[in-house]
Amino acid sequence: MSISVGKFLTNHKTEPKSVSKFPLELKLLTQADLSSILELDRACFGGLWTLESYQRELDSANSVLLGLHSPLLPVKLVAMGCFWSILEEAHITILAVHPRYQRQGLGQAMLYSLLKTAWERGSERATLEVRVSNQAAISLYQKFGFKTAGRRRRYYKDNNEDALILWLEKMQSPKFQQILVQLHALVCDRLNNFCWSLVNI
Ligand SMILES: CC(C)(COP(=O)(O)OP(=O)(O)OC[C@H]1O[C@@H](n2cnc3c(N)ncnc32)[C@H](O)[C@@H]1OP(=O)(O)O)[C@@H](O)C(=O)NCCC(=O)NCCS
Repeated sequence: MSISVGKFLTNHKTEPKSVSKFPLELKLLTQADLSSILELDRACFGGLWTLESYQRELDSANSVLLGLHSPLLPVKLVAMGCFWSILEEAHITILAVHPRYQRQGLGQAMLYSLLKTAWERGSERATLEVRVSNQAAISLYQKFGFKTAGRRRRYYKDNNEDALILWLEKMQSPKFQQILVQLHALVCDRLNNFCWSLVNI
């Protein structure tokens, strides 16, 4: 699907109209990003994790917290993702795109970056839990090859909703290396269509 630049700019009312591409940078989040992380958490989840929880992630050697930001935008962090690296497993705990910038390919760019980083760290498989009602996220994970392995009943305490447990296997196989190359092309294409220019993904 190709989206015109005009459509993109109408979605960015507060951004400068003279810029035709918005540079998008991937960064390892640090203490200095805490307030932006909390802002994004509130915008996407209504306050899922506390400052202390994110602080623990930032302090943990097993936790990788990545963010996407564009220096030209008023929103400091447009997307973030987190995974725990435990033995050969990458457990994805957070994936979020600022509501103002959803459906422009940032979610898949973030997921790609998490998987690529996990792959570089030697992860054999990736897993996560997702609400059964979260069709947008489920569809994204399926697009990336995740398969449903089970269901945790009443996993989410706020509304007793079930979680689907998803897995992506064989991440160190030569086939997955090819898949990463294909996913990279897919990610770049989609972002280009929405006038994001990738700096370091
Ligand atoms: C889930 C989320 C990260 C997707 O991010 P996004 O930037 O909007 O997604 P993208 O534009 O990269 O879309 C990639 C794919 O995701 C799926 N998708 C995204 N939004 C969707 C929607 N509203 N309905 C159905 N599928 C959707 C599609 O498979 C899409 O691929 P396609 O466009 O080729 O069909 C985003 O909606 C979000 O932050 N939601 C709130 C937080 C959340 O639920 N996180 C997941 C917790 S497990």
